[in-house]
Amino acid sequence: MDDQDVLDEVSRAARQAAATGTVASYIPALARVDPAAFGFAIAPAPAADPGPVRGTGDWRVPFSIQSLSKVFALALVLAADGDTLWQRVGKEPSGSPFNSLAQLERERGIPRNPFVNAGALVVTDRLQSLTGDASGALREFLRAESGNPALDFDPRIARSERRHGHRNAALAHLLADHGKLANPVRTVLYHYTQQCSIAMTCQDLALATCLFARHGIRADATRLLTRSEAKRINAVMLVGGTYDAAGEFAHRVGLPAKSGVGGGIIAVVPGRCGLCAWGPALDDHGNSVAGITALDAFTTLTGWSVF
Ligand code: DON
Repeated sequence: MDDQDVLDEVSRAARQAAATGTVASYIPALARVDPAAFGFAIAPAPAADPGPVRGTGDWRVPFSIQSLSKVFALALVLAADGDTLWQRVGKEPSGSPFNSLAQLERERGIPRNPFVNAGALVVTDRLQSLTGDASGALREFLRAESGNPALDFDPRIARSERRHGHRNAALAHLLADHGKLANPVRTVLYHYTQQCSIAMTCQDLALATCLFARHGIRADATRLLTRSEAKRINAVMLVGGTYDAAGEFAHRVGLPAKSGVGGGIIAVVPGRCGLCAWGPALDDHGNSVAGITALDAFTTLTGWSVF
């Protein structure tokens, strides 16, 4: 099978599956996307001779990255803080929904992992302390890694999430009550909502994801993460990147990956490539139905997985 055959087959399988999902509506502005949209992109990782990004469908259409932002925020904080970060946030699968208040309260303000919303709020809090402008720093970083200097926040999505983000506000207040935030709750919520509102294409995201496929080497060939830090991020993606469906995802796809309620999923084939699949219709866990199906088909057809 050549590359185009793989892309065609991935697209066929994903479009068929998408009909069973539902577009996220708890952030009302997210519900305005076309549920039938689908894109998939592969960015080769080798820094020396990366070759062109390949894609299919709506792979150059921007969408809301939402929780995909959490992986890149984690990379920036881990690069600055090293292993001390893991004193504030765990590295275990959550086994609970991504916005669970009960789990955070039970575990006394130490989020299970950096990808549940509570964990991401802690990471954003730390990024804010490090940079003074967490979401701005993340936007600059994503511009550099994707090679797209025009990517930006989507103010309509950010406004909508701010207006309806009662659960995240509750999580942030709970963290503050446990003494786990260094910055004011409203500052942390502002930057978290901004970072989630960033709009990127599958092409942008596949390129940015190469950071993790290159074991911590940036697009400009400088090192951001040690090999061991990059390994840790990939490991946490494997066990928690798709929340309480991480076992099922690992079973079907076999790659470190992170999902977002905008319908994107990024995935890492270490040493080989960064991947991004996008389809806005989600399953009950908040993961893209088309995205999972596409990545499942991709690893099955190519044999590329970490196992
Ligand atoms: O905080 C939220 O609920 C959203 N901004 C992001 C959640 C998300 O993407 C979960 N991923 N599947």
